[in-house]
Amino acid sequence: MKVTERIKKEHEEVKELFEQFEKRPTMKLVKQIKDILDPHHYAEEETVFPKVAAETEQKAELVRNLIAEHEAIELLFNDIFEMKVSDDMFESKVYVLQEVVEHHTKEEENVFFEHAKEVYSDAELTKATQAFDQAKEEFSPSPDEG
Ligand SMILES: [Fe+2]
Ligand SMILES: [Fe+2]
Repeated sequence: MKVTERIKKEHEEVKELFEQFEKRPTMKLVKQIKDILDPHHYAEEETVFPKVAAETEQKAELVRNLIAEHEAIELLFNDIFEMKVSDDMFESKVYVLQEVVEHHTKEEENVFFEHAKEVYSDAELTKATQAFDQAKEEFSPSPDEG
């Protein structure tokens, strides 16, 4: 499997969890989404992002924007985990998170992947999956996150 396919598969897992949340909003689902996205973002930043960013200033700018979105998503998670499901703003905050994540994943699939294909050969894209998966395993959440 190419690393772009692995990334897309994880985006789809997240999308499905957001759809479940729409039907039945729980904190557990938000936590499940975070448990996929945290190592996913870390692995993107450790593996595919640097190689693409090193190529041209245009690619570097795209990658900076994607990293800024990872940070924005993390801040939204922090806000949400300070809330209770019964809070008036809880579902609205998760909705904003969903919108930002959807925008972000589309940007990666529609724009970043095209740039990655310019930088990586097909064989390299397949090889990069191993590094991506390994980076995810290396990711460990900070101790204050449960
Ligand atoms: Fe990302
Ligand atoms: Fe992603």
